[in-house]
Amino acid sequence: MTGKTHVLRGQTLQYTGDPFAQPWDSCAQIERRGAVVIENGLIAAVGPAEDLSVPPGATVTDYGDDLIMAGFIDAHVHYPQTAMIASWGKRLIDWLNTYTFPEEARFNDSTYARKIAARYFDLALGHGTTTSVSYATSHPESVDAYFEEAKRRGLRAFTGKTCMDRNAPDSLRDTPERAYTDSKRLLETWHGVDRLGYVITPRFSPTSTPEQLDALGALWAEHPDCLMQTHLSEQSEEIAWVKDLYPDATDYLDTYEAHGLVGARGLYGHAIHLTPREKDRLQEVGAGLVHCPTSNTFIGSGVFDMAGLKQMGQRIGLATDTGGGSSFSMLRTMAAAYELGQLNGGALHPSQLLWLATCGSAQVLHADHQIGNLSKGLEADLVVLNLSSTAAIAQRIAEAEGFWDSVFPTIMMGDDRAIRDVWIAGNRCDQQDFDPSSKTQ
Ligand code: GUN
Ligand code: ZN
Repeated sequence: MTGKTHVLRGQTLQYTGDPFAQPWDSCAQIERRGAVVIENGLIAAVGPAEDLSVPPGATVTDYGDDLIMAGFIDAHVHYPQTAMIASWGKRLIDWLNTYTFPEEARFNDSTYARKIAARYFDLALGHGTTTSVSYATSHPESVDAYFEEAKRRGLRAFTGKTCMDRNAPDSLRDTPERAYTDSKRLLETWHGVDRLGYVITPRFSPTSTPEQLDALGALWAEHPDCLMQTHLSEQSEEIAWVKDLYPDATDYLDTYEAHGLVGARGLYGHAIHLTPREKDRLQEVGAGLVHCPTSNTFIGSGVFDMAGLKQMGQRIGLATDTGGGSSFSMLRTMAAAYELGQLNGGALHPSQLLWLATCGSAQVLHADHQIGNLSKGLEADLVVLNLSSTAAIAQRIAEAEGFWDSVFPTIMMGDDRAIRDVWIAGNRCDQQDFDPSSKTQ
């Protein structure tokens, strides 16, 4: 990575521990007048502004009271669902058949795939998301479009071909052989190129035959450094369907495990209605659970057990699940996680919400040595938050008592207006890089 030297000044937030595992007042280093030094795309130093000298030739950007922190990491999103987000009135299976599959079928056209990939990244960056782990569609073109667009923008980004060989329209179905050969070719083309990572992606057990799951399990065994992503125990009708389709399986997780699809680099989206055995097994292997709160309320799936699962020591990341999720914003997603927490287990502290959207997601991606915190040596993917971005928020934080109280109103009420700036690998994004309204498409 190369690039200029920059010094950013403002409030800074660096995590020094997991606020679920230790008191939240001892897990973060907060500087009210802080600075971040960026050299060659990496964070070279973080600390009180007065202690950090400006390297020769550095540009200095003073953000005043704005908060400089790690960019948000969306650990589960469907970029091909960008144009059908907020589609009304269905639960999961009908929602897939009515809205999702017809839209995903359009991605056999690589021009359309490229247009939506560009639009997706504009929206994600505009909401402060610097890394996304996306499902593509079953068309290899949709993987190429996402990676090409991410590469062009210098992003650390993840995706994979969404494999389905049953219970989906002809235009989206592949076969066990095609799932394997397409995924392998895409993996060999893209995995490890610049900041890109390939994710082996069986959509979920109902849309794959056991033969297809086997083929993808074999591919994962051949490429164990790749992530694998799928959906797990999202909705009651889906779980009943899985029971019908896999009568010999012990439970939903077993439909994956029997085919080599359970492991530490596995990302299991939703994971709401888990049995005690499934929870124990996920914990034992150190798998990543991905909480998608706006989706869970929007599609009516249920309430994720954040408190109980965290207490077990599960690894948990946070995600929008766009377009089952109803927002591109990780701020809105944190607000929804807070609201669901209030229904089950208690209030999540702002330190926990911001940790989930950065460090927590980075951990489930096994990328916490690269992204997800404001720490020396990590890649300089940053978001700068205006903590008084609307009149409603500004009047509230005029009364704030302490740092966390000044951040919480932006978590609960903030949107893309709160995103003052985004830095990718030490380069500031131009506002028009992430403003879809500035483009004619
Ligand atoms: N389960 C299988 N596919 C999907 C999807 O696209 N969105 C959600 N929310 N759940 C799924
Ligand atoms: Zn999903």
